[in-house]
Amino acid sequence: MDDTIRQDLVDKATAMLDKAYVPYSHFPVGAALISKSGEVFAGCNIENASYGLSNCAERTAIFKAVSEGHTSFDYLVITGNTEGPISPCGACRQVMAEFCEADMPVLLTNKKGKVKETTVKELLPGAFQSGDMV
Ligand code: THU
Repeated sequence: MDDTIRQDLVDKATAMLDKAYVPYSHFPVGAALISKSGEVFAGCNIENASYGLSNCAERTAIFKAVSEGHTSFDYLVITGNTEGPISPCGACRQVMAEFCEADMPVLLTNKKGKVKETTVKELLPGAFQSGDMV
């Protein structure tokens, strides 16, 4: 991934922290995703008084992209106000596995600039996939 594009994704994910709707957890998360066609989709977490309906930042970004007709991606950045690079939740790892190739890089970071680059497969080995339904 080109350094300029990666930095743009980090900046867009970080900007999303101010858009997060987090009246319950007060824990904003931001994400930014680039499609293979070069379009960027950013998202934040959106909570609900019925807590279980809350949507994570990375799923917001992925669902925005899919709803605009993009289903293949090159790179995902996730950030939060964590001590180390943020760790995406299990539900989001499964959604990444649905729409992103197993070896797609995912950059986990935080407001302090700590970074860890991993892949979709490293985040969720053995993901349940369409091929399992035979
Ligand atoms: N959250 C995310 O947005 N992404 C993650 O991967 C971890 C958790 C959100 C969900 C909830 O709004 C808040 O962080 C606290 O769990």
